[in-house]
Amino acid sequence: MQRIKIKDKEFKISIRAEEIANAVKQVASQINRDYEGKDPVFLSVLNGSYVFAADLLRHIKGPCRISFVKLSSYSGTTTTSHVKELIGLNEDIQGKDVIILEDIIDTGITVDRLLEEVKKRNPASIRIACFCYKPEAFQKNFHIDYIGMKIPNKFIVGYGLDYDGYGRNLPHIYEVVD
Ligand code: IMP
Ligand code: MG
Repeated sequence: MQRIKIKDKEFKISIRAEEIANAVKQVASQINRDYEGKDPVFLSVLNGSYVFAADLLRHIKGPCRISFVKLSSYSGTTTTSHVKELIGLNEDIQGKDVIILEDIIDTGITVDRLLEEVKKRNPASIRIACFCYKPEAFQKNFHIDYIGMKIPNKFIVGYGLDYDGYGRNLPHIYEVVD
Protein backbone atom coordinates (compact mmCIF):
# COMPACT_ATOMS: atom_id res chain seq x y z
CA MET A 1 0.00 0.00 0.00
CA GLN A 2 1.79 3.13 -1.27
CA ARG A 3 -0.74 5.78 -0.22
CA ILE A 4 -3.05 5.90 2.75
CA LYS A 5 -5.51 8.34 4.24
CA ILE A 6 -5.78 9.09 7.97
CA LYS A 7 -8.57 11.45 8.91
CA ASP A 8 -8.13 14.54 6.69
CA LYS A 9 -4.58 13.80 5.53
CA GLU A 10 -2.98 11.75 2.81
CA PHE A 11 0.31 9.95 3.42
CA LYS A 12 2.77 8.21 1.10
CA ILE A 13 5.19 5.44 2.00
CA SER A 14 8.54 6.76 3.17
CA ILE A 15 10.53 4.09 5.07
CA ARG A 16 9.69 0.42 4.52
CA ALA A 17 9.55 -2.12 7.34
CA GLU A 18 12.71 -3.93 6.14
CA GLU A 19 14.69 -0.69 6.17
CA ILE A 20 13.33 0.11 9.64
CA ALA A 21 14.39 -3.32 10.91
CA ASN A 22 17.94 -2.80 9.61
CA ALA A 23 18.23 0.60 11.26
CA VAL A 24 17.01 -0.84 14.58
CA LYS A 25 19.64 -3.60 14.38
CA GLN A 26 22.35 -0.99 13.73
CA VAL A 27 21.34 0.96 16.83
CA ALA A 28 21.23 -2.25 18.89
CA SER A 29 24.71 -3.31 17.82
CA GLN A 30 26.14 0.09 18.79
CA ILE A 31 24.44 -0.15 22.20
CA ASN A 32 25.65 -3.74 22.65
CA ARG A 33 29.20 -2.61 21.94
CA ASP A 34 29.04 0.44 24.25
CA TYR A 35 27.31 -1.31 27.18
CA GLU A 36 29.18 -4.61 27.23
CA GLY A 37 29.52 -5.75 30.85
CA LYS A 38 27.00 -3.11 32.01
CA ASP A 39 23.40 -3.33 33.13
CA PRO A 40 21.55 -0.38 31.57
CA VAL A 41 18.00 0.82 32.28
CA PHE A 42 16.09 1.83 29.16
CA LEU A 43 13.50 4.58 29.56
CA SER A 44 11.00 4.27 26.75
CA VAL A 45 9.03 7.46 26.14
CA LEU A 46 5.36 6.63 25.65
CA ASN A 47 3.32 6.51 23.59
CA GLY A 48 5.30 6.66 20.37
CA SER A 49 8.41 4.66 21.27
CA TYR A 50 6.70 1.42 22.31
CA VAL A 51 7.26 -0.25 18.92
CA PHE A 52 10.90 0.86 18.62
CA ALA A 53 11.52 -0.18 22.25
CA ALA A 54 10.02 -3.65 21.71
CA ASP A 55 12.05 -4.25 18.55
CA LEU A 56 15.29 -2.80 19.91
CA LEU A 57 15.22 -4.67 23.23
CA ARG A 58 15.02 -8.02 21.49
CA HIS A 59 18.41 -7.28 19.89
CA ILE A 60 20.05 -6.25 23.16
CA LYS A 61 22.42 -8.83 24.58
CA GLY A 62 23.28 -8.99 28.25
CA PRO A 63 21.31 -7.79 31.26
CA CYS A 64 19.06 -4.74 30.93
CA ARG A 65 15.77 -3.40 32.25
CA ILE A 66 13.10 -1.15 30.79
CA SER A 67 10.71 1.38 32.28
CA PHE A 68 8.03 3.33 30.44
CA VAL A 69 7.62 7.05 31.00
CA LYS A 70 5.27 9.61 29.57
CA LEU A 71 5.84 13.22 28.57
CA SER A 72 4.04 14.35 25.46
CA SER A 73 4.16 17.66 23.59
CA TYR A 74 2.12 17.03 20.47
CA SER A 75 -1.41 17.68 19.33
CA GLY A 76 -2.19 17.25 15.63
CA THR A 77 0.77 17.90 13.30
CA THR A 78 2.34 20.95 14.93
CA THR A 79 4.54 20.91 17.99
CA THR A 80 3.51 23.03 20.96
CA SER A 81 6.04 24.51 23.35
CA HIS A 82 3.99 23.23 26.28
CA VAL A 83 5.25 19.95 27.69
CA LYS A 84 3.44 17.94 30.30
CA GLU A 85 4.99 16.59 33.45
CA LEU A 86 6.87 13.33 33.62
CA ILE A 87 4.89 10.32 34.78
CA GLY A 88 5.74 6.67 35.22
CA LEU A 89 9.34 6.89 36.42
CA ASN A 90 8.97 4.71 39.47
CA GLU A 91 12.15 2.72 38.89
CA ASP A 92 15.09 3.90 41.03
CA ILE A 93 17.67 5.06 38.51
CA GLN A 94 20.18 6.50 40.96
CA GLY A 95 23.66 5.28 40.00
CA LYS A 96 22.30 3.47 36.92
CA ASP A 97 23.27 3.79 33.26
CA VAL A 98 20.15 5.17 31.63
CA ILE A 99 19.33 5.04 27.92
CA ILE A 100 16.36 7.16 26.85
CA LEU A 101 14.38 5.67 23.94
CA GLU A 102 12.38 8.02 21.73
CA ASP A 103 10.46 7.29 18.56
CA ILE A 104 11.39 10.65 17.06
CA ILE A 105 13.26 13.79 18.02
CA ASP A 106 11.76 16.79 16.30
CA THR A 107 12.29 20.14 18.09
CA GLY A 108 13.97 18.29 20.97
CA ILE A 109 11.71 19.96 23.54
CA THR A 110 10.37 16.66 24.90
CA VAL A 111 13.77 15.02 25.44
CA ASP A 112 15.26 18.24 26.80
CA ARG A 113 12.52 18.31 29.45
CA LEU A 114 12.91 14.61 30.16
CA LEU A 115 16.68 15.03 30.58
CA GLU A 116 16.06 17.66 33.28
CA GLU A 117 13.87 15.23 35.21
CA VAL A 118 16.17 12.24 34.73
CA LYS A 119 19.25 14.21 35.85
CA LYS A 120 17.52 15.09 39.15
CA ARG A 121 17.50 11.38 39.99
CA ASN A 122 21.33 11.14 39.77
CA PRO A 123 21.88 8.31 37.30
CA ALA A 124 25.52 7.28 36.63
CA SER A 125 25.11 8.18 32.95
CA ILE A 126 22.42 9.16 30.45
CA ARG A 127 22.43 8.47 26.73
CA ILE A 128 19.76 9.05 24.13
CA ALA A 129 18.59 6.71 21.37
CA CYS A 130 15.93 7.75 18.88
CA PHE A 131 14.56 6.00 15.88
CA CYS A 132 13.98 9.13 13.76
CA TYR A 133 15.67 12.50 14.00
CA LYS A 134 14.66 15.66 12.13
CA PRO A 135 17.89 17.77 12.08
CA GLU A 136 16.15 20.75 10.42
CA ALA A 137 13.60 21.00 13.23
CA PHE A 138 15.98 20.47 16.16
CA GLN A 139 16.21 23.50 18.49
CA LYS A 140 18.16 22.18 21.46
CA ASN A 141 21.83 21.37 22.11
CA PHE A 142 21.87 17.97 23.75
CA HIS A 143 23.83 15.23 22.01
CA ILE A 144 21.89 12.31 20.50
CA ASP A 145 24.00 9.20 20.97
CA TYR A 146 22.13 6.72 18.74
CA ILE A 147 20.04 7.62 15.69
CA GLY A 148 18.13 5.10 13.58
CA MET A 149 17.35 7.47 10.69
CA LYS A 150 17.81 11.14 9.89
CA ILE A 151 14.70 12.36 8.10
CA PRO A 152 13.51 15.59 6.46
CA ASN A 153 11.24 17.95 8.33
CA LYS A 154 8.02 16.22 7.26
CA PHE A 155 5.26 14.85 9.47
CA ILE A 156 5.34 11.05 9.53
CA VAL A 157 3.15 8.22 10.88
CA GLY A 158 3.56 4.49 11.42
CA TYR A 159 5.91 2.31 13.43
CA GLY A 160 4.48 3.69 16.68
CA LEU A 161 4.11 7.28 15.44
CA ASP A 162 0.62 8.69 15.22
CA TYR A 163 -1.50 11.37 13.66
CA ASP A 164 -4.13 12.27 16.25
CA GLY A 165 -3.84 8.81 17.78
CA TYR A 166 -4.09 6.90 14.48
CA GLY A 167 -1.46 5.10 12.44
CA ARG A 168 0.71 3.66 15.23
CA ASN A 169 -0.05 0.13 13.99
CA LEU A 170 1.37 0.67 10.48
CA PRO A 171 4.50 -1.45 9.89
CA HIS A 172 5.99 1.05 7.41
CA ILE A 173 6.58 4.76 7.98
CA TYR A 174 4.51 7.16 5.84
CA GLU A 175 5.04 10.87 5.29
CA VAL A 176 2.34 13.47 4.83
CA VAL A 177 1.54 14.59 1.28
CA ASP A 178 0.88 18.33 1.22
P1 IMP B 1 9.73 17.25 20.07
O1 IMP B 1 9.48 17.58 21.50
O2 IMP B 1 9.37 18.39 19.15
O3 IMP B 1 11.12 16.72 19.80
O4 IMP B 1 8.70 16.15 19.65
C1 IMP B 1 8.78 14.90 20.14
C2 IMP B 1 7.48 14.16 20.15
O5 IMP B 1 6.53 14.67 19.22
C3 IMP B 1 7.76 12.75 19.74
O6 IMP B 1 7.94 11.95 20.87
C4 IMP B 1 6.54 12.36 18.94
O7 IMP B 1 5.61 11.73 19.79
C5 IMP B 1 5.97 13.65 18.43
N1 IMP B 1 6.34 13.86 17.01
C6 IMP B 1 7.33 14.64 16.53
N2 IMP B 1 7.39 14.59 15.19
C7 IMP B 1 6.42 13.75 14.81
C8 IMP B 1 5.98 13.25 13.52
O8 IMP B 1 6.49 13.57 12.43
N3 IMP B 1 4.95 12.35 13.56
C9 IMP B 1 4.34 11.95 14.71
N4 IMP B 1 4.73 12.38 15.92
C10 IMP B 1 5.75 13.27 15.97
MG1 MG C 1 6.76 10.40 21.57
